[in-house]
Amino acid sequence: MAADHGCFTVKSALKGDLARLGREAIDLGTMDEEPVDYPDFADRVVEALAAGRAGLGVLICGSGIGMSIAANRHPRIRAALCQDPAMARLSRQHNDANRLVLGARMAEPAPAAACPTAFLEPPFGAGRAPRRAASGRDRGQAECNEDEHGKPKQNRARDLAGVWAEERCRRRACRGRYGDCDFHGSRAVQGH
Ligand code: RB5
Repeated sequence: MAADHGCFTVKSALKGDLARLGREAIDLGTMDEEPVDYPDFADRVVEALAAGRAGLGVLICGSGIGMSIAANRHPRIRAALCQDPAMARLSRQHNDANRLVLGARMAEPAPAAACPTAFLEPPFGAGRAPRRAASGRDRGQAECNEDEHGKPKQNRARDLAGVWAEERCRRRACRGRYGDCDFHGSRAVQGH
């Protein structure tokens, strides 16, 4: 778990709650009110996952928005900003979230404290069909292209790279007009 300077007391309280529930939380900071940049702390929690030190994680900032944006830049991170235990539970059951994000200045203290407990309870797929999340269509390309051991899925990787490039291009309404998208070629046009 990690929090920025505005929320480290909330983090400490949650850490205590989790310890009482018998869950070990690795505290990755920050530890005081000295102003910090929340992306640095989102990165720490992401790295803990990459290093195999933690499976699930909790990120806390004032609104929860900054931590969500920073964490979800990373391919294997599925960070869910939750305001109550129901959202926390659903983010695991239906969305395969692996990072819980809390906006410590937004939610009332009691529900916020209950969120990590709800988040830790159910495994992915414990609720109704999580087909959409399992299909990989809401996952980053790197995540789609690797198996559960981080090894490239050889044939599928090539197919998916093409599919994703086309999708990105289509969303930008490119259709070849700008030329530098992954799908249509390499004529570079700034900003496309
Ligand atoms: C820090 O002042 C604040 O910007 C941060 O906690 C967070 O709310 C950003 O999204």
